[in-house]
Amino acid sequence: CGIVGYVGSQSALEVVLAGLRRLEYRGYDSAGVAVLADGQIASARKSGKLVNLEKALVDGPLPAGATGIGHTRWATHGGPTDANAHPHLDNAGRVAVVHNGIIENFAELRAELAGRGHVLTSETDTETVAHLLAEEFSGCADLAEAMRLVCRRLQGAFTLVAVHADAPDVVVGARRNSPLVVGVGEGEAFLASDVAAFIAHTRSAIELGQDQVVEVRRDEVVVTGFDGRPAEVRHFRVDWDAAAAEKGGYASFMHKEIAEQPRAVADTLLGRIGADGALILDELRIPAAELREVDKVVVVACGTAFHAGLIAKYAIEHWTRLPCEVELASEFRYRDPILDARSLVIAISQSGETMDTLMALRHAREQGSRVLAICNTNGSTIPRESDAVLYTHAGPEVAVASTKAFLTQLVACYLVALYLGQARGTKWGDEVLGVVRDLADIAGAVERVLGDMEPVRELARSLAGAGTVLFLGRHVGYPVALEGALKLKELAYMHAEGFAAGELKHGPIALVEEGLPVVVVVPSPRGRCVLHDKIVSNIQEIRARGARTIVIAEEGDDAVLPYADHVVRVPVTPTLLQPLVTTVPLQVFACELAVARGNEVDQPRNLAKSVTVE
Ligand code: G6P
Repeated sequence: CGIVGYVGSQSALEVVLAGLRRLEYRGYDSAGVAVLADGQIASARKSGKLVNLEKALVDGPLPAGATGIGHTRWATHGGPTDANAHPHLDNAGRVAVVHNGIIENFAELRAELAGRGHVLTSETDTETVAHLLAEEFSGCADLAEAMRLVCRRLQGAFTLVAVHADAPDVVVGARRNSPLVVGVGEGEAFLASDVAAFIAHTRSAIELGQDQVVEVRRDEVVVTGFDGRPAEVRHFRVDWDAAAAEKGGYASFMHKEIAEQPRAVADTLLGRIGADGALILDELRIPAAELREVDKVVVVACGTAFHAGLIAKYAIEHWTRLPCEVELASEFRYRDPILDARSLVIAISQSGETMDTLMALRHAREQGSRVLAICNTNGSTIPRESDAVLYTHAGPEVAVASTKAFLTQLVACYLVALYLGQARGTKWGDEVLGVVRDLADIAGAVERVLGDMEPVRELARSLAGAGTVLFLGRHVGYPVALEGALKLKELAYMHAEGFAAGELKHGPIALVEEGLPVVVVVPSPRGRCVLHDKIVSNIQEIRARGARTIVIAEEGDDAVLPYADHVVRVPVTPTLLQPLVTTVPLQVFACELAVARGNEVDQPRNLAKSVTVE
C-alpha cells in the first residue's frame, strides 16, 4: 500500500524506512526493504508493523547502499505473512520488486513461469513480476525497457517499483491506475506512492500518468509510455505540510476517503465481470452446484455494513428469488435463528474483526450453514473463519465513520446477488445483463456526483445550528436514509433518524414542525414509478407541515421541484444500484456539518473503527 524508492548518496535504508513511516497512515499489515550494495541485492521483510521489520534489521543488518526500495503491504492476494510481504525477488536474487494493486492475469503468468522452470515461493501476484523482469532484463540489460516489456503483459491495476543488481544507481517505476510520484532532489531522487514519503527531502515532484514507466537516477528522471515513447511530464511543487501530505492535501481522511470512492468502486469490480457480462467470482470457491442448493440467504453485519446488508436484500430477492433476511449481528444468535446446511449466511465487515459479526458467523457455522464474508481486510478473523470470502478493494479506511468501504460493500453485495442468480439460472435475462453493464459504469456516476457537491456543503453549513434532521426513503432508498442518519449522528453528534417514507404517517410525522430539515431520497421515476409518486406525496405531506425539504433526486426528475426547498441531483442509474450514488451526498452533508460544528471528523467521540467486544 505504501511504496518508497530512493537513489542518491544517503543511506537508502534510512531514507526508505523514514519514507515508509510517513506512509504508515495508509494502513498496512507487513513491510519490507531491499538495498543494492556491492553488486548484490540485500532484503528483509516482516509481517506486522514497521517495528517488526526494524527489529529484524537490528538482528540481521543489511549492508550499506545508496539505492533501495521499500514497501508497506495491505494484503490482497495471499495473507499478511513474511513470505507474502514485499519486496519479491527472482530465483537468482538479482531483481527486487514492490507493488501496489492487483495483477489480474497473474495465475496465467504464474503457470507460464512455472513451465519455464521458475520456482515461485509466495502466494502473491507480485512475485510473477520479479521473475518476468529478470527474464526480460537478461535479454536487453536495460531495466526500464524490461519494465515496459513486462507492463505490456500485465492486466489490472498496478504500481511497480524495481531495482536490479546489475543496474546500480537506477530505480525503475511503472504506473497504471494506482498513483506514483517522483521526488526530484539535489543529486538524489525518490519514488513514492505519495509525496508524504519524501517531503522531508524535496518539494519538487513529478506525477506519473497512466501507463508510464519512469527511470530515476541521481541526476536524471526519464519518463516514457509503456510503448517506449517519451512522455510529457508534469512538474509540481509540494506546498503541503507533513500532516496535510498524509491526507493527500484533504482536510481529513474522511474527505479523502469520500473522494476515493470512484476508484474504490472500480477496484472492487476489477476483473469480476467478463466481457460477455458473466460474473467471474471463482475466488468464492463455492461450486455452482452448491449455490443451487441454497434455499435462504441471511445477512449479518453491524453499523454501516448492516445498511449495506439491508440494500443487498432487495437485490438478492429480486435477482435470485431466494428469501433473504438481514439481521444486526448483535441480535442474531440470541433469538435462535432457523439455519441449516442450505442457508447461506453473508457476514459483511470492513475490518473483519467486529466481535458481534464474528460471533454471529460462528453461530451460523455451528448450525451447519455456509458463511460467505464480504470484507475489506485480508487475513482478518472474519474471512479466516468463513467458508468463502469476497474482498472489497476499498483500500485501507482510516476515518472511523465508514464511507468508501460502504460503497464497495454494496458493489460486493450486488456481485454476489448477480452471481447467485447466474449460478441458479434465475432472472438471468436482459434486465440483469443491463444491470451488469450499468454496474461496470457506476464508478463514473459516483465521480459525477462528487463533482457537484459544493451546494451540499453550503447547505450543510447553513444547518450547523439545527437540532434534528430526519431522513426518508423508500425501497433501497430506505436503508440509504438510515445510513444518512447514522453518518450525521456519528459525525455531527446531532439527533438524526431515518424512516421508511411510507411509515411516516404511522408516527414519525408527529415530529415534523416548522423549519425541520428533512432529507428525502427519491427513487427513480422510471420503472417502479408508483414508488416515485408515493414519495412525492410524502414530500408534500411534510412540506405542508413546515418541513424544510432537501430532496435527492435523479437528473431530469422535475416532479419533485414544486415541493423541494433544495434539490441534489444524482445520475440516472437502475433502481437497485441507486444507493451507490444517493449515499454520496449524504456522506458529504454529514462530513461538512461536522466540520461546521467544529467536530473532529476522523475520530468522532466515543466511537471506534473496529469494535472487538460484544
Ligand atoms: C463500528 C464503526 C462503524 C462500522 C461498524 C462495523 O461501529 O464505527 O463505522 O460500520 O463498526 O464495522 P465492520 O468493520 O464490521 O464493517
